[in-house]
Amino acid sequence: MAQRERQPNPSGASAGMPEVEVYSPVARAFHWIVLVLLVIQIPVGLVMAYRGNVLNVWDALTNNLYSSHKLLGVTILAIVLARLAYRLLHGAPADEPTLEWWQKAASHVTHWSLYGMLIVVPLLGWLGVSRYPALNIFGLFNLPGLVAPDKQAAEAFFFLHKALAIVLVLLIGAHVGAAMFHHFIRKDGVLTRMLPGLRRR
Ligand code: HEM
Ligand code: HEM
Repeated sequence: MAQRERQPNPSGASAGMPEVEVYSPVARAFHWIVLVLLVIQIPVGLVMAYRGNVLNVWDALTNNLYSSHKLLGVTILAIVLARLAYRLLHGAPADEPTLEWWQKAASHVTHWSLYGMLIVVPLLGWLGVSRYPALNIFGLFNLPGLVAPDKQAAEAFFFLHKALAIVLVLLIGAHVGAAMFHHFIRKDGVLTRMLPGLRRR
């Protein structure tokens, strides 16, 4: 299958080590594109909410940050849905062979929780702006409303949006920490399975 490339020791370890299956180029592209978009999306969300809710400054910059956050957020949602469809259709490489059973279980739980949060968090934001309603993007067009306007109910969606965005950030922290642990301390092939630019066959 296309996404299951065998890579003899992509970590560069000596011959005789078990072969490590790597993620396909498509799976790796999805992974790193979503990371780059989140690195923009989360700080934009924090800065705009600080300017709007704490400083109460509603100037062009704040409005443009809100528009950017909404537009990028629905873009991330669309990319993650495509990524999830790809994942469900094509599967993933077998677990790195040297992992303990509990490490495999923990990584599966974290990965599926990340997928879940990447869908639920933007959906909650979109539901919030549908309720408010604040669907306009840069004064150019409106996002489709998902539910009928109801300003009071919007607050509950924004609260959940923020709370689960924090959970998402904590999960990412654990995930990146685990990747670093595997690469620098355990020195196994886990990180290299997902790195861009591996040799193709
Ligand atoms: C993966 C995608 C997303 C992430 C990680 C994310 C993250 C965040 C974060 C960290 C905040 C700041 C919370 C705070 O400090 O109060 C925020 C606020 C907000 N987000 Fe998102 N967001 C995403 C998608 C969306 C989408 C798709 C929409 C709407 C279409 C949206 C609408 C909002 C709004 C309106 C606020 C401000 C809420 C308030 O003022 O209380 N977000 N988001
Ligand atoms: C510097 C940041 C990151 C590093 C070093 C990293 C590293 C990795 C590695 C090595 C894997 C493969 C794990 C395995 O072979 O079992 C992986 C998988 C995964 N990563 Fe990341 N990651 C990072 C950021 C992120 C972010 C920001 C997200 C999304 C919020 C994310 C979501 C995922 C998911 C969902 C998988 C599972 C893929 C699948 O099996 O379908 N990662 N990551």
